[in-house]
Amino acid sequence: MSGFKFCQEPKRVPLIDSKYRKIRTRIPPPGSSRIFDKLGKYESRSMHGQLPVVWDRAKDFQVYDPYGNCWIDFTSTIFVTNTGHANEDIISALRKQLDKELLHTYTFANKPRARFLQKLVEIAPKHLNKAFLLSAGTEATECAVKLMRMRGQTINKSKVAVISFKGSMHGRTMAAEMLKGDTDSSAWIGYRDPNIFNMPFPYPWLIGSGSNGRISRGVWEKRFADDMVSLKKKGLDFRKIAGFILESYMGWGALFFPVPYVKMLAVFAKEHDCLITFDDIQGGFGRTGKLFAYQHYGVEPDLVCLGKGISGSLPLSAIIGRRNIMDLPDMGSMSSTHSANPLCCAAAFANLQVIESKDLVKESARKGIILHRELNRIKEKYPHRVSYVFGKGLLAAMLFKDPKTGSPDCIFPSMVCERAMQKGLLLVHTGRESIKIGPPLTIPDAALFDGITALEESVAEIERESIQ
Ligand SMILES: Cc1ncc(COP(=O)(O)O)c(C=O)c1O
Repeated sequence: MSGFKFCQEPKRVPLIDSKYRKIRTRIPPPGSSRIFDKLGKYESRSMHGQLPVVWDRAKDFQVYDPYGNCWIDFTSTIFVTNTGHANEDIISALRKQLDKELLHTYTFANKPRARFLQKLVEIAPKHLNKAFLLSAGTEATECAVKLMRMRGQTINKSKVAVISFKGSMHGRTMAAEMLKGDTDSSAWIGYRDPNIFNMPFPYPWLIGSGSNGRISRGVWEKRFADDMVSLKKKGLDFRKIAGFILESYMGWGALFFPVPYVKMLAVFAKEHDCLITFDDIQGGFGRTGKLFAYQHYGVEPDLVCLGKGISGSLPLSAIIGRRNIMDLPDMGSMSSTHSANPLCCAAAFANLQVIESKDLVKESARKGIILHRELNRIKEKYPHRVSYVFGKGLLAAMLFKDPKTGSPDCIFPSMVCERAMQKGLLLVHTGRESIKIGPPLTIPDAALFDGITALEESVAEIERESIQ
C-alpha cells in the first residue's frame, strides 16, 4: 500500500465543462469539509482514505456532489452498478416492493426471493442448479469454504484442506482473510488454519516468455504441477484436499489466470476428487464481457460465489452450485438474518432483466475492445511508466512502474487518481501500483472516450510534473 493521502485542503483547479464532466468549485469543495470532519470524528478510520468526493446523487454513469460538480464514474462503486446508477427499472421494482409494505421476512418465504432464485439459476450454466442468498461477498466465500469442507468430509473426515491463491481478495472476515495468505491484513488473526494452503498466483512476469514473446501452454501446465509439488513438500496430502478457491481474476490488477494453468487445475481436481469454487463476486454479471468472469477459462466449477453486480445496488450475495453440494447443510443451518431480503431480491430480479434486455454482456465486450485499445495506446505513449494493461470487457487495470528502477510504483497511480478527480473522472484507487477502471456497462461510447481523455491528460500532467 502506498500510504498516499489525498489532499483535504480545497485547491483551485482548472474549471471543467465538458458534456459529461463539470468541475465548478475548488476540489475538494470548501463545503465538503463539514461532512469529512463529521466522518473523521464519528467513524473509525478503517472506512477512510477514499478520494474526497461527497456523493449527492448518482445517475447511470455520472456522479454528482451537492456543490455543482459532476464526474464520469469509472468505478461503478467497485463493480456494483453494472446496470448504471439508480437504474429506472431497479428503482421502479423497489418502489413496487415498498408500496407492498414488505421490507423483511428473515427466512420466511417471499415471492421476490423465489422469483429471483429461479431467474438466477435459469441464466447460469445448467450444472449450477441451486443457489442461496446472503448479504455480503465475504459471507459467500466463507460459506463456500464450509461447503467444500462439508463435501470433503462425506468422502473422508480429513478431506478438509482448501487451497487458495496468495494475495487474492475474498473479503475481510476471518476465513476470507486467511485465503489471502500471510499478509499484513491477516496478521490480526494470530494463527494459521493448518488446512488452508496458499499457492503463489501465476504472475506472467515471474515466468520467462519464449522467443516469440509468449508463454507456452506447457510452461503454465508445468508451473501448476510444480506448485502442487511444493505444497506436497510442505506436508499437504493430496487426498485431504477438499477444494480450490480462485478469485476469477486477481482483483487489484484485473489479472486473469493463464487458461492452461486453470485447465490443468481442473484436471487435477477431477483426479483427486476435490471441488473448484470461483469467487466471481467482482467479475460477475457482464463486467468482463461474459456473464461470469470464470467463463473465460472453459472449465466447470462446482460452486460460484456472487455479489456486487448481482443487484446493481442493494446488499446481496449468493452461492450457486451443484445441487448435491448445495443441499449438504442441514435445514436452517446456512443462512443469515438479512439473507434474501425482499427489497434486495426485487432489485436483483430487475437488475438481471436489465442485463438481458440491454444486452449488457455483449455491450461490455464491445466497449471493452474500445477501452483496452485506448489504454494500450496510452501504455505505448508512456512505456517507461505503464508496465501492463490487464483485464477484459469493461474491466481494466493499468499497472505503473518507476521509470528509473522499473519496480512497481504505487505513488504515481495515486497521483493520477487525484488529478483525474480534479478533472471530473472517478477511478478506482487501489493504493497499489495499479489503477482500476470499471464504468457502468451502460456508459455511452462518447462518455467512455471523454473519461479516457481525462485519464490520459492526468497521466501526461503527472508525468510532466514528476520530471520537472
Ligand atoms: C473477488 C472478491 N471477493 C469477495 C469480496 C468481498 O465482498 P464484500 O465486500 O461484499 O464482503 C470482494 C470485495 O471487494 C471481491 O472483490
